[in-house]
Amino acid sequence: MKTEDKLLLRALRGETLPVPPIWMMRQAGRYLPEYKATRAEAGDFLSLCYNPDLATEVTLQPIRRFGFDAAILFADILLVPQALGADLWFVTGEGPRLSTVTTPADFAKLGPAEDIHETLSPIYQTIRNLRESLPAEVPLIGFAGSPWTVATYMIAGQGTPDQGPAHALMKENTALFEKLIDLITEATILYLSKQVEAGAEVVKLFDSWAGSLDGLSYAKYCIRPTAKIVSRLRERWPDLAIIGFPRGAAPDGYAAYAKHTEVDGLAIGGEMDADWAVENLQPFVCVQGNLDQTLLVEGGPRLVSETKRIVKAFSRGPHIFNLGHGITPDADPDNVKRMIAAVRGG
Ligand code: CP3
Repeated sequence: MKTEDKLLLRALRGETLPVPPIWMMRQAGRYLPEYKATRAEAGDFLSLCYNPDLATEVTLQPIRRFGFDAAILFADILLVPQALGADLWFVTGEGPRLSTVTTPADFAKLGPAEDIHETLSPIYQTIRNLRESLPAEVPLIGFAGSPWTVATYMIAGQGTPDQGPAHALMKENTALFEKLIDLITEATILYLSKQVEAGAEVVKLFDSWAGSLDGLSYAKYCIRPTAKIVSRLRERWPDLAIIGFPRGAAPDGYAAYAKHTEVDGLAIGGEMDADWAVENLQPFVCVQGNLDQTLLVEGGPRLVSETKRIVKAFSRGPHIFNLGHGITPDADPDNVKRMIAAVRGG
C-alpha cells in the first residue's frame, strides 16, 4: 500500500474518516510482558534502543497484539544528546541521567551536529528493518525531541519538577543557552532527515516541556526551532507529514504552534479540553489525542465512556485517536483492547 493511502496519512492530509486511526504513545513499553522479556534479553533500555533486531521486535509487538494503525520507532529523544557527546544512562525506577551543559566549557565538549550519525546508525537500521517487516497498511512514525525539551534534560542532567535549571541558564547566559538550542536544532534536522531516508513515513516532534515556557520564550524556544525543523525537512520532502506535540502549552499556545510551525498533526495533552480543540484547532489541523492514560489502569465504564466521548467530539474533522501522554507500566493490556474496541465501534 502506498504511504499516502494509509489511514494515518489520510487523516494527516485533512480527511475526516468514519473511524479515526489509532496508536498510543509508549505503545511498546513495560505494560507488555513481551516487551519486558525482550528488554531483559537486551540487558538494559539503551542496549535495546541500539540493537536493531530487538528494537524492531519491540516496535512490532503492540502491532501484533493490538493491530494499531501506526507503529512508532523504538528509540528515545535522549539519544541525540548522547550522539552529540553527552554521557547518558538510565537509573532503573527513576529515569534518565546526563552529563550537564551549564558552562561554555561543557558546551565545547559537545561534537558538531554532522557527527551524530555514527552513534545513531543502528536507529536507521531499525527503520529499514521495520519497513520490511511491518504489515503493508501500517505506517512507520519516526521521531525526535524538540530542541527546548532536549535542552532541558541536557542542562539539568535529568527530569526535574519544573526543569528550573534550563530556565535559569536561559536567563543567566542567554547566548550559551541559544547556542545549545541551535546545535540541537541542527542535529535534529540531520537526524530526522536520515530517518526519512531510511523509511520513516511520518515524523513526530515531542516538546514535553513546552508548558513550562511563557509567551515570549514559548515563541522563541518552542515555536521558532520547531518551525525551522519543519521548513528544512519540507525543503527536501515537500509532502512529509509531521506531527508536533507542545505538551502542556496554553490553549492559545497550541493554536499559535499549529499556525506558525505548519505541522500537519497537532498532538494535544490530557490537559486540553476536547470541545475547545474541536472549535479552535481542528478547523486548521488534524488533531491527535487525548484520552487520559490513567484510564488504562483504571478500566471500567469510564474508560469506554471517555473513549467514546473523545471519538464523538472529534468526529466531524480530521482526528487521530491517542492518549494525552504515554501509557504507564501499571496499565492493563486488556484495557487497551477495550479502548480500541470502543474507538472502532465494538
Ligand atoms: O512511544 C513509543 O513507544 C516510542 C519510543 C519512545 C520512548 N521514549 C521509549 C522509552 C518515545 C517516543 C519516547 C519519547 C520520550 N523520551 C520523551 C517525550 C515523550 C514524553 O514522555 O514526554 C521523553 C521526555 C523521553 C525521555 C525519557 N525516556 C524519560 C523521561 C524516561 C523515563 C521515564 C520512563 O517512562 O521510564 C525514558 C525511558 C523510556 N523511553 C522508556 C521507554 C519505553 C522506559 C524504559 C524502560 O524500559 O525502562
